[in-house]
Amino acid sequence: MTAESQLTRLGLFDARVPRYTSYPTAPHFNSSTGPEDFRNWINAIPEGSRISLYLHVPFCRRLCWFCACRTQGTASDEPVRAYVEVLKAELRLLQAELPAGVTLSRLHWGGGTPTLLAPDLMRDLARTVFDVVPMGYGAEFSVEIDPNEIDDARLDALAEAGMNRASIGVQDFDPDIQKAIGRDQSFEVTKLAADKLRARGIRSLNADILFGLPNQTRARISDSVQKLLSLGPDRVALYGYAHVPWMARRQVMIPSDSLPRPEERLRLFETARDLFVADGYDEIGIDHFALPTDGLAIAAREGRLRRNFQGYTDDLAPALIGLGASSISRFPQGYAQNAPSTSAHTKAIREGRFSTAKGHAFAGQDKLRARMIEALMCDFRIDSAEMRASFAVSDAELQEMYALAAREFGGMVTVDAAGLAIPEKGRPLTRMIARCFDAYDLSKAGHSPAV
Ligand SMILES: C[S@@+](CC[C@H](N)C(=O)[O-])C[C@H]1O[C@@H](n2cnc3c(N)ncnc32)[C@H](O)[C@@H]1O
Ligand code: SF4
Repeated sequence: MTAESQLTRLGLFDARVPRYTSYPTAPHFNSSTGPEDFRNWINAIPEGSRISLYLHVPFCRRLCWFCACRTQGTASDEPVRAYVEVLKAELRLLQAELPAGVTLSRLHWGGGTPTLLAPDLMRDLARTVFDVVPMGYGAEFSVEIDPNEIDDARLDALAEAGMNRASIGVQDFDPDIQKAIGRDQSFEVTKLAADKLRARGIRSLNADILFGLPNQTRARISDSVQKLLSLGPDRVALYGYAHVPWMARRQVMIPSDSLPRPEERLRLFETARDLFVADGYDEIGIDHFALPTDGLAIAAREGRLRRNFQGYTDDLAPALIGLGASSISRFPQGYAQNAPSTSAHTKAIREGRFSTAKGHAFAGQDKLRARMIEALMCDFRIDSAEMRASFAVSDAELQEMYALAAREFGGMVTVDAAGLAIPEKGRPLTRMIARCFDAYDLSKAGHSPAV
């Protein structure tokens, strides 16, 4: 049997599975977690420890048709200014609850488009952040950069504020594909943004590109990857385009019949993957590539790779606090998500309370299963000794769980006394194999294609 027909038999090309940036996944959050839990979990952060912070900016100047992110278009600056005031007020609420001496491990501004903030807003927001939680030694400050929505003044403001990593949205360089996804962005514009970031001493550049886009062919993705490689990114995220028009309304602009079939999606991924690997990049988890000198690649080699809402990370801070509308926080006790709409979030903060609308408090085997799934997504293996040392679980219980996966994915997983591993040929199935360790009912969740 060919590798592809084996994958077909195992259902890879029909399945929809979570991307497992959390466990349980966000569709399982519910309203029994609220602002009181969020406050208690912040209060429980040990004095003098390190945390990470995510700030969400839910605005864009342009609304790209392909985008599934929670964001709203705005031509004027007014709502953005008002929103930054809300973020600052939320930071002050956090300050009142945060134990003494806490410093930052990672700060990330995401969206939407954080680069649409005017330079004075960027400075003001950064000043407030560092007044509430100062950067710790070696901390990283990253920002999602839309190359079409950035200029010298804003780059200067970000660099002066201490940004030391930038994540550039590329998607694909092909003009025909860009037209089909409603995102006009020439190679020159992207290159200019990368050059200007480097000129300001930004030592790490990430780029996002997508496979499975309308009208995308292997020749076209090869060309886009070559162009991207000429920019020398330190890290690349190669995401599968998720076509979910029932959730992201603007995707109706993209006709389904222009999309590559699932088998072709896998070939598109492999075409891009081979080019990154040939150029000396390390494969990180299921969809990232990094230069061997990059922190993510080093963490992967040393078994320190982790997965959070932003994807792969080498951040080991136990708490990641998300501020802004719809942001999700992770604590050792569970997850908490802010009100998704900007208006509900704003109302709560203006009334002097956190906007936590739902979440999940860890119970039972949640933490064990979360770590097993994370280990598969990061290292393609579950180490039984680590599980026994970290959780109240016996070898017999572990073997029972592994047997479930082995029954469903025989030949694509190996099980022995050390644990469970996914060999090279089984890697396209990683998210499906991870699902075997998910104890929640997956029928209600709107997931993305397995490939
Ligand atoms: C929230 S966007 C922010 C990027 C920034 N606003 C820009 O346009 O450059 C972050 C990334 O999410 C990814 N993304 C958005 N919609 C997606 C979809 N439908 N499927 C897969 N990835 C998607 C894109 O790769 C994008 O660069
Ligand atoms: S890709 Fe970026 S600019 Fe485009 S709609 Fe999504 S968040 Fe906004």
